[in-house]
Amino acid sequence: MSSRSGVFMLLILLFFQICSVSAFTYESDTAALETLKSEWKTLSRSWKGSDPCGTKFSNSWVGIECTNDRVVSISLGNLNLEGKLPQEILTLVELQTLDLTANPKLTGPLPENIGNLKKLQFLNLMGCNFSGQIPASIGSLLELTSLSLNLNQFSGTIPASLGRLSKLIWFDISDNQIEGELPVSTTSSPGLDMLLATNHFHFGNNKLWGVIPEKLFNSSMSLLHLLFDGNQFTGKIPDSLGLVKNLTVLRLDRNRLRGDIPSSLNNLTNLQELYLANNRFTGTLPNLTSLTGLYTLDVSNNLLTVAPVPSWISSLHSLSTLRMEGIQLEGPVPASLFSPSLLEIVYLKRNLINETLDIGANYSKQLNFVDLRNNDITGYKQAANDKIQVMLADNQVCKDPANRHNDYCNILQPNSSYSTLRTNCSRPCGSEQELNQECHCMYPLKGVFTLRSPSFSSFYNKTYFRTLQESIAAHFKEKNYPVASVEIKNITENPTDYHLQIDLLIFPSKQDSFNQTGMDSVISVFSMQLYKPPSRFGPYVFNAHPYKTFYGSSKSSNMGIIIGASVGAAILLLLSTVAGIYALRQKKRAERAYNKMNPFGKWDIGKSKIDAPRLVGAKAFTFEEMSKYTDRFSQANDVGGGGYGQVYKGKLPSGQLIAIKRAQQGSMQGGLEFKTEIELLSRVHHKNVVKLLGFCFDQSEQMLVYEYIPNGSLRDSLSGENGIKLDWTARLKIALGSGKGLAYLHELADPPIIHRDVKSNNILLDENLTAKVADFGLSKLVGDPEKAHVTTQVKGTMGYLDPEYYMTNQLTEKSDVYGFGVVMLELLTGKSPIDRGSYVVKEVKKKMDKSRMMYDLQEMLDTTIIANSGNLKGFEKYVDVALRCVEAEGVNRPTMGEVVQDIESILRLAGLDPNADSAANSRTYEEASGDPYGNKDSF
Ligand SMILES: *[C@@H]1O[C@H](CO)[C@@H](O)[C@H](O)[C@H]1NC(C)=O
Ligand SMILES: *[C@@H]1O[C@H](CO)[C@@H](O)[C@H](O)[C@H]1NC(C)=O
Ligand SMILES: *[C@@H]1O[C@H](CO)[C@@H](O)[C@H](O)[C@H]1NC(C)=O
Ligand SMILES: *[C@@H]1O[C@H](CO)[C@@H](O)[C@H](O)[C@H]1NC(C)=O
Ligand SMILES: *[C@@H]1O[C@H](CO)[C@@H](O)[C@H](O)[C@H]1NC(C)=O
Ligand SMILES: *[C@@H]1O[C@H](CO)[C@@H](O)[C@H](O)[C@H]1NC(C)=O
Repeated sequence: MSSRSGVFMLLILLFFQICSVSAFTYESDTAALETLKSEWKTLSRSWKGSDPCGTKFSNSWVGIECTNDRVVSISLGNLNLEGKLPQEILTLVELQTLDLTANPKLTGPLPENIGNLKKLQFLNLMGCNFSGQIPASIGSLLELTSLSLNLNQFSGTIPASLGRLSKLIWFDISDNQIEGELPVSTTSSPGLDMLLATNHFHFGNNKLWGVIPEKLFNSSMSLLHLLFDGNQFTGKIPDSLGLVKNLTVLRLDRNRLRGDIPSSLNNLTNLQELYLANNRFTGTLPNLTSLTGLYTLDVSNNLLTVAPVPSWISSLHSLSTLRMEGIQLEGPVPASLFSPSLLEIVYLKRNLINETLDIGANYSKQLNFVDLRNNDITGYKQAANDKIQVMLADNQVCKDPANRHNDYCNILQPNSSYSTLRTNCSRPCGSEQELNQECHCMYPLKGVFTLRSPSFSSFYNKTYFRTLQESIAAHFKEKNYPVASVEIKNITENPTDYHLQIDLLIFPSKQDSFNQTGMDSVISVFSMQLYKPPSRFGPYVFNAHPYKTFYGSSKSSNMGIIIGASVGAAILLLLSTVAGIYALRQKKRAERAYNKMNPFGKWDIGKSKIDAPRLVGAKAFTFEEMSKYTDRFSQANDVGGGGYGQVYKGKLPSGQLIAIKRAQQGSMQGGLEFKTEIELLSRVHHKNVVKLLGFCFDQSEQMLVYEYIPNGSLRDSLSGENGIKLDWTARLKIALGSGKGLAYLHELADPPIIHRDVKSNNILLDENLTAKVADFGLSKLVGDPEKAHVTTQVKGTMGYLDPEYYMTNQLTEKSDVYGFGVVMLELLTGKSPIDRGSYVVKEVKKKMDKSRMMYDLQEMLDTTIIANSGNLKGFEKYVDVALRCVEAEGVNRPTMGEVVQDIESILRLAGLDPNADSAANSRTYEEASGDPYGNKDSF
């Protein structure tokens, strides 16, 4: 034996020497991400394993997406990242998306050469704390369509080079400390006027200064939103602005603009929002009658000349909010001012308005607030509709003691409290928690959803907020995000910029908190502007609050199922089954894969050196070979899979078909466990057990190579999925074959093996419908023969699970016998053991009447049996055996050896020779010596 193991050791050594040891993911990409991981400590728990891209069907690292093993997307919204953006990110030259939205502990400058990321399309850094100058090299990112640098600490000027971003659509630098003039193109330098594709200039709340250049605008621009509010611009509004015909939102408020308000604005016929407030405009308002789509007009607080309330305002049919405070309007308010049918709010504070206020009879049905405080109004002709709140404090009319106590002379604050959270239940929750609609304490994602220029301002009509809530929820639902509901808690209007700030709560579904992947996907809905609000909501940003409690972040990603006996049995349903051709579940604890170091070194983990695997007839394959045999793991060769990874069909050069089980990232075992499994599987040789042909332990991959079993699983045949119809004798033979396979594992394998997941999915049928037991993923060696049982965590599949094992956690061969009994009953009914809530074991026991023919079970039989079989000889005896297998207590169940004998005698009853096609050598243990395959194998 020792000389043989020496040979295998040599084989393994050779194998690893020819293997390249690089990771599957492009090596320098992996290295760059490793640097990010060491910089951003929060990722250390979720970025595990050596292959950031994962395999085709396996999990990649959180937030990482790849194409052709190159990293193309890093998306890590609101994951509490802390640190700087390291230079090494520049080596990810295939990167198209970099989204670090809402990580306020990310600081420091952006790498100067960020322009090296030539393929970048999305650079979203909103809500971090990056600082310093915006690197001029961003102007080299010619593929960029979205640049969101808002809500950071950037300073310095806007680099003129950004004018080269001819594909840029979204340009947001709001809420920074950016200063200087807006760069426009010259003969020698690019400028923002060249950004013809850009729909959004969101530059609000910075320190930009200088005159807005006439050259900035031209008729080829496709700007929709121009947000320059809250800066220090001076000079006049350039006439050229009238050329940007598609503009819908124009915010120039809170600057130092001067001169006349140009009548060219009247050419912007698509305008919905016009904010010119808090500047130094002089002259009179131009006639803006062409702006028939305007919802908001705000010209407050300018230095206009004294003038009457313009009569043309009543022709703005869409007007919803009118703000004309402090602009020296004189004379009476014409009643026609209140006639636009969508008008909600009118602010005319601090003017020179006199005479009696008469809202008339023809006012908007939506009107609910009229603020005329601080004017010279002498009387008020009460409107018919007392829903309208009128404010006339600091007018003549309120100096009259007779009126002083009228509502309109007192200052009432609009009531903004609004919440869709559930209030009719209470229960103490943690500080980060909120009650969901089912009255459970959950960890919602909270944040502020800011509308930068909504076309409504009403606090009296909450329809808008309900609409918003529903449309966000609908977006998540339609796209299957892990979101249960979206709630609104609080709405505030920022009194300075009239931004509406809505406290949004997004509740996770399935778990009480989001995991990192879920969080990131939810954040990117907003950061990538995938969610588009209904019209009238205007541009938005969502700034998430830090999220502290990630679901599963402290747990290892265990793909198997671990269930304490106390956990409800229903949870067992989670256990994935392996459909298809062969099946094998492994998954012990998911130790991650090895690093790029020599994996051979991992064979001797621990103090005492562990030998290289002692393999019997199993071959080590390289990754290249596996890839070649499966046509690069093509979709066409993908024949199924489960939580551990994917199964591929392949073809050896000799023509032999193989099934390759490829562990995915996260399902890999430690080297020792993988070795143990290979050793175990390589020793199992029986006609009724699926054969291991080899393995691959190369390039951070773990694969097991099996013989290919062409007819799929017994379940596939019973469900009729694969067109195979099993008559009574075929079923008896399958019961016998799989029984023999299990008896071999229990009684003849060395060491004995308890299967632990006996079910119809794990019984495969070859071309002769010979049954082969598959999937030793959950197998446990029955170690010490002294011990009758192995205490372990319950594993298995709902419906096949031994109730005794489930109660006690004590695993014996009798647990497999129970599962086998369920399979026998399943062979009778054709249905899954748990079918529409009824459990086959219970149903048979309930229905059965031993005094009657066929125990009166005809009704339960699979119609395929009845249609294709004559007299069901041995039926009653078969039911007897099956029911003994599912006895509640293990001691009352037969051994698999006894079951096999019983089934053999049933076959004889049915007039068949139990040894006809399978019995000859079925119970002969093939000594693990020599090559049990002879020359059949090509390797
Ligand atoms: C303005 O909008 C219209 C309609 O959406 C579009 O066809 C046109 O190309 C836009 N103009 C510019 C300059 O983008
Ligand atoms: C605005 O439109 C008028 C005609 O309606 C035209 O004479 C004028 O040149 C336009 N101004 C701009 C800046 O487009
Ligand atoms: C405003 O302009 C429209 C059309 O351009 C014109 O019909 C109307 O009389 C003007 N109104 C005032 C008050 O100048
Ligand atoms: C209201 O103000 C206008 C303009 O200042 C003035 O001409 C008019 O006489 C005033 N009306 C009254 C009743 O004082
Ligand atoms: C509230 O707003 C909606 C949408 O504009 C409108 O249909 C509804 O009539 C309004 N309700 C009230 C009471 O004004
Ligand atoms: C509502 O939001 C405002 C601004 O964000 C905040 O000051 C206020 O405390 C919030 N109110 C509630 C009840 O959460």
